[in-house]
Amino acid sequence: MKVLVIGSGGREHALVWKISHSKKVKEIFALPGNSGMNELAKTIDIKASNIIEIADFAQEKKINLTVVGPELPLSLGIVDEFNRRNLKIFGPTQKAAMIESSKIFAKEFMKKNKIPTSDFQTFNYPNDAKEFLKNTQFPVVIKADGLAGGKGVFICNSIEPAEASINSIMIEKKFGKSGEQIIIEEYLSGQEMSFMIISDGKRAIPLVSSMDYKKIFDGDKGPNTGGMGAISPSPLSDKNLYTTIMKTIIIPTIEGMRLEGKEFRGVLYAGLMITSEGPRVLEYNVRLGDPETQTILLRLKSDLVELMEGSTDGSLFDIPVRWDDKVSGCVVVTSKGYPSKFETDKKIDGLERAKSLGVEIFHAGTILKDRSYHTSGGRVLNVCALSNNLKDAMKKIYDAISFIGYDNIYYRTDIGKVKK
Ligand code: AMP
Ligand code: GLY
Repeated sequence: MKVLVIGSGGREHALVWKISHSKKVKEIFALPGNSGMNELAKTIDIKASNIIEIADFAQEKKINLTVVGPELPLSLGIVDEFNRRNLKIFGPTQKAAMIESSKIFAKEFMKKNKIPTSDFQTFNYPNDAKEFLKNTQFPVVIKADGLAGGKGVFICNSIEPAEASINSIMIEKKFGKSGEQIIIEEYLSGQEMSFMIISDGKRAIPLVSSMDYKKIFDGDKGPNTGGMGAISPSPLSDKNLYTTIMKTIIIPTIEGMRLEGKEFRGVLYAGLMITSEGPRVLEYNVRLGDPETQTILLRLKSDLVELMEGSTDGSLFDIPVRWDDKVSGCVVVTSKGYPSKFETDKKIDGLERAKSLGVEIFHAGTILKDRSYHTSGGRVLNVCALSNNLKDAMKKIYDAISFIGYDNIYYRTDIGKVKK
């Protein structure tokens, strides 16, 4: 069969890699993809947000399954467009994707379905929001309602930064229409955990647990990023917690969405805070996490394509999922300055030598020029390994990274070590 993967990051390179192991798959396309995928997939120069052109491409090439990496095409209704054309696609419809694309919808949905999350208020006008701040306890968390590329969340310890955040979202309109409404919610403390499941609308099969390291600097300091590294399993995972998450969060979410006529197919990613009173939902995503996916796919023994087909066809239950008991890790190698300003177009050396240590290297922001890879983004490479224990996996990864060089290389040196 022919499979099309949409997206261009490390997550999508890992998806292409895993899909290439499926006996069913003859040809893989990645759209727009990145240079690092070229050995496994043909890259197609169409933007991931251009859903009509993507559907035209899939129709013309007779693609048997399309897999969507990022949330944007999902929130734009790519699954609906494919469904109208009878093309098979893995992911939720636009209506179901609202659980990520509108934080207000997600919060109200949780409240209605008694899914544990922090207390919140929603606001349409900046003055009302500022008025509310006068009688509230700090810290508070202020969030833009819509998609903001992971940048629309502000943790504020006092009234001044809180007002500044409201101004930047609602008055300066930093996130455009995504900031027309905001949420102010209670700050939760605890440990964060990523919990992902795959659903066919009725059933939910959990993927193995993972934890990502969101902050830019060692010791979890500095601003949030898309993710600087990940490990699987999460150090927090234990059977009781797992049962609680399935019972109080995942099953009511899938069931609640179905009852609202927003049946959820695809990957549901619950970003959780494990508080002293139990797990609470911080947010939902309607896609796989990046870089968590890289660590999870290294541990997946089953055929990913069969699982994705089961989700789109509504027949997930028939498919057993097998996992490797080993531990996996991923370190994201970036351009210094990320997540703010950084330079690109630096020649990358040492990739082959690094790979010879038995790690998997998934590309994110790279471009092939004059037969050498150069940097082209903030998150450049994902160096990943699977081993009998975390210490070995991380050692293998950091040994491999020590061979990789480019001008403004930066990565965290403590992935797998610190407790968040
Ligand atoms: P979100 O995009 O909603 O997951 O928020 C991004 C990050 O902000 C999360 O991964 C947390 O680190 C933090 N965060 C979001 N909501 C809260 C909250 N209610 N309490 C504490 N931290 C939060
Ligand atoms: N690593 C966090 C995310 O994918 O949202």
